[in-house]
Amino acid sequence: MSRYMVTSALPYANGPKHLGHLAGAYLPADIYVRYMRMREQDILFCSGTDEHGVPITIAAEKMGITPLEVVDKYHAIIADDFKRFGISFDNFSRTTRPEHIKFAQSVFLELLEKGHIVPRDMKQLYCPECKRYLPDRYINGTCPKCGSEDARGDQCESCGTWTEPFELIEPRCGICGAIPETRDTRHWFLLLDHFQKWLEGWLGAQSNWKTNVLKYCYSWLGDGLRERAITRDLAWGVPVPLEEAKGKVLYVWFEAVLGYISSTKEYFRKAGRDPEEWKKYWQDPDARLVQFIGKDNIVFHCIIEPSLLHVLGDFILPWNVPANEYLNISGQKFSTSRGTGISMGHYLDHFDPDPMRYALSVNAPENRDSDFSWTEYQSRNNELADVLGNFINRTLKFTASKFDNRVPAAELDMTLFNKTGEAAEEIAELMESFKFKKAIGVAMELAREGNRYFDNAKPWKSLKADPDQCAITVATCLNLCASLAVIFEPFIPFSAKKTRKMLGLEDLKWSDAGTALLKYGHKLGTAEILFKKLEDGFEKIMNKPEEPVEVEREETQVDFEDFMKIEFKVGRILTVEDIKKAKKLYKIEVDTGDKVRTVVAGMKKYYTKDELQGRLVAVVCNLKPAKLCGVVSHGMLMASDGESGVFLLEPGSNAKPGDTIR
Ligand code: MF3
Ligand code: ZN
Repeated sequence: MSRYMVTSALPYANGPKHLGHLAGAYLPADIYVRYMRMREQDILFCSGTDEHGVPITIAAEKMGITPLEVVDKYHAIIADDFKRFGISFDNFSRTTRPEHIKFAQSVFLELLEKGHIVPRDMKQLYCPECKRYLPDRYINGTCPKCGSEDARGDQCESCGTWTEPFELIEPRCGICGAIPETRDTRHWFLLLDHFQKWLEGWLGAQSNWKTNVLKYCYSWLGDGLRERAITRDLAWGVPVPLEEAKGKVLYVWFEAVLGYISSTKEYFRKAGRDPEEWKKYWQDPDARLVQFIGKDNIVFHCIIEPSLLHVLGDFILPWNVPANEYLNISGQKFSTSRGTGISMGHYLDHFDPDPMRYALSVNAPENRDSDFSWTEYQSRNNELADVLGNFINRTLKFTASKFDNRVPAAELDMTLFNKTGEAAEEIAELMESFKFKKAIGVAMELAREGNRYFDNAKPWKSLKADPDQCAITVATCLNLCASLAVIFEPFIPFSAKKTRKMLGLEDLKWSDAGTALLKYGHKLGTAEILFKKLEDGFEKIMNKPEEPVEVEREETQVDFEDFMKIEFKVGRILTVEDIKKAKKLYKIEVDTGDKVRTVVAGMKKYYTKDELQGRLVAVVCNLKPAKLCGVVSHGMLMASDGESGVFLLEPGSNAKPGDTIR
């Protein structure tokens, strides 16, 4: 058994993520992880949202809210969309967590101490109109490498080059379009040239990596690595942990790549496990680090992150970085910041996750950009229905009506069954070399084989003419259904689970594929339609422009633990008195079981004293005491408040003072 640490790029929490993200770094990782779990490997899958950097502050400025509000909102949306798509992270963290911030700062200090980071006085672009420094994406201009006109100050999306604001040709302020000035400032630089030799050796040995990934790496090494500023003049980010760097933050990429480790640490802490256990996944030389990313992230995962881990010493380095190319939509790029493409949530509001997981697996941008279209999606969906769905359905329906929904007594037809075992092995090999696109093709071919077998054997005829032969056909097809449920599980987990239920099977292991899982007499479940076919024009429902997500300030989410800290109790009102000079307030004595507490409540407008006396109420007991009109209040009575008026919440008449409310 091997141990695997699997990561997916931390998506920026600057907006909902789209199908391009899903196809690039999340779906392939999930397929791999689900497969490895079925192989009973020791595997951990961590990611989280990237919550710092200019993508976040730009989003905040556009929406007129704070960066914190932006990341709170989108972390929740992104995490939920991934969950609905079945992306089975063990932990999905956030880079604004204190644990991450401390870790990133400690890494900065360690590199500084070891002489790989140094301060430099430099010039920086400044917008005279907006009166602010313009780091990263606050600058637009022409890419010095490929000439693309919409390169930004951090990166050119067209060719993947990591740019510095100064290098852009004809730079313009990204906010107002003005021509920027230069100003003096001081920043800390990572001396990447220190690692050139070492990286050449290390990357040179990774001959099993994808060629597209190695090509990028060699091209950077060929250009010669240069020092890079890793601090910024921004108000949002991880503060540089130095007195002399007040007001500066770490460059988002420097800290974000450390987020994988923080997320793993958080996983063990939250699970109540040994807090040092994360080291088994990051520091044991036998563990394998597999990092799923899109191609625009290659430099950060194959150059920066390994350099940091190398300096820190005890860490393992990436074992593989199976980066994907881009998924385009009708020839255009998906992009959160440019607002093009279909978001995961928008899709899921109309359709099931599995058909999209299947379509994106078949059409994965594994070695070159691929194009998403609804026509393609429709034919993939219908393929699932016609081939896999149909085979499982006809087999189960036939068994239900002719064999009392039980597995008949029969030997299996080994010609078909051996093919199943072989297919499972072939798929395993493809999965382990990150060729998911080919793997899903082999899986679907096996389902096709099942249909051909059923057609040729004609069990509806042999039922009378040769009942023994009919039993063989049915037992063989049922067992093929079980193997298909195994093989398809990493790709379409929701449907695989439904299939297992229909077959009356529990969780399955990869090694179950190609074995006789369903024995004579085994009772099957109820057959259900797995996939619905789509008619032309089905996608119209999606064409309505996506509603921009409104950020509601009230919707701040609270951790369950925080909520549980509040003590709600049933109380009975004993006495009610006026308070001098207070027009709205009563002084109320409430019995909350443990004691009688005084609360000040603004109820005078709504209730008379008599109406209150003796009433059962819901009390918030552990609020910090507050003085109102000279009286100290030790709690709060809960009430509804709306257009219809204000009404005290009433516990049921059987409740007793001191009962807890949850
Ligand atoms: N937030 C980046 C993006 O969306 C990816 C960060 S990956 C990490 O492109 F390694 F830095 F975390
Ligand atoms: Zn470029």
